[in-house]
Amino acid sequence: MSGAHGMIRSIRELDLAGKRLFIRVDFNVPLDKKTGAVKDDARIRAAIPTIALARAAGAKIILASHLGRPDGAVVPALSLKPVAARLAQLLGAPVQSADDCVGEAVQAQVAKLAGGDVLLLENLRFHAEEEENGEAFSRALASLCDVYVDDAFGTAHRAHASTAGMVAHVAQKGMGLLVAQELKHLRPLLENPPQPYIAVLGGAKVSDKIKVIDQLLGKVDALLVGGAMAYTFLAAQKIAIGGSRVELDKLDVALRILEKAKSANVQVLLPIDHVVAADLKSTSGEVQSVVAEKMLGLDIGPKTAALFAEQIIGAKTIFWNGPMGLFETPAFAAGTKAVADAMVRATALGALTVVGGGDSAAAIAQLGLAEKVSHVSTGGGAALELLEGRELPGVTALEQ
Ligand code: 3PG
Repeated sequence: MSGAHGMIRSIRELDLAGKRLFIRVDFNVPLDKKTGAVKDDARIRAAIPTIALARAAGAKIILASHLGRPDGAVVPALSLKPVAARLAQLLGAPVQSADDCVGEAVQAQVAKLAGGDVLLLENLRFHAEEEENGEAFSRALASLCDVYVDDAFGTAHRAHASTAGMVAHVAQKGMGLLVAQELKHLRPLLENPPQPYIAVLGGAKVSDKIKVIDQLLGKVDALLVGGAMAYTFLAAQKIAIGGSRVELDKLDVALRILEKAKSANVQVLLPIDHVVAADLKSTSGEVQSVVAEKMLGLDIGPKTAALFAEQIIGAKTIFWNGPMGLFETPAFAAGTKAVADAMVRATALGALTVVGGGDSAAAIAQLGLAEKVSHVSTGGGAALELLEGRELPGVTALEQ
């Protein structure tokens, strides 16, 4: 891949046969609190094509990832061992586990690998030096391998030892098939994609999305806002929101965004009706056009869902990030489902449809529709930072 970006080799161009190949993957997946088993394996499945290619090429494969935020301590509940078990099932091949990610015992395990073998190292973040991008730790990781491949798109926005520091110390480097796939679908969103181009944003907070909204306002024709963040926009315009979640310290930011959108000729569509309930634990809701006092808006209402769907189906490029409501509760899932269904319709009509990672990726997977849109990113934060127009350290490190 080249152009405005430096040249990055694909794993397909690297010399892998018999080589010790370190693949940084993002196996930061949710685990079941009771059983400890992997709850959502989308990120593991997304890494399979690269691992399968490396096995077929006869590389000795060393996989490394973080899981959760153990902050430099060994936290048994955040061990990658359950991930190794799930990976072995998906690969249909044995996956060895290491008890650490650096050190003599790991070196010895690596030395015993034959071509095609797969070893999953223990959680990188059990060492504080991972997130600190420590030099000695970076060198220790690099000493395990001859070739470095980054396929951890979800972690590409972090400049850590395994995504940045170690790369300079390895002779051959490149990107995996997932990173290539993510860049192929996400970068065009920054480079004047077919119009109408619309963005659908949801989720809890405006504060997480300010930078991406600023960037999108220069590109999109319309911005559709749902989820709890919509209430900050409504409150900023003095529209009643009852007891809905709101960021009172972001009302001025919301107003500034609305003004900027107006002068950029970007339509901002906010909910015109809501599914409301008395509290977050409610299992049923009622539709209101204005959220009544003390009630909470927990999903966009049917009129809003129809309006959003019409906009999505009429667009040529759609980027969606963040659910429209509390979709984990069936009574408040209809808005998110309507957006997902409209994304599928738009895709069938030839539009480029991209779902940012995190909750919206989980929602579309839960609905069984992930295969029916152009791309579902495995990166939440990483996809947003890319769309903010920022360099991703994990990608920059791969440039030749
Ligand atoms: C993610 O889930 O966004 C990535 O795995 C990065 O995790 P982090 O936010 O803990 O760095």
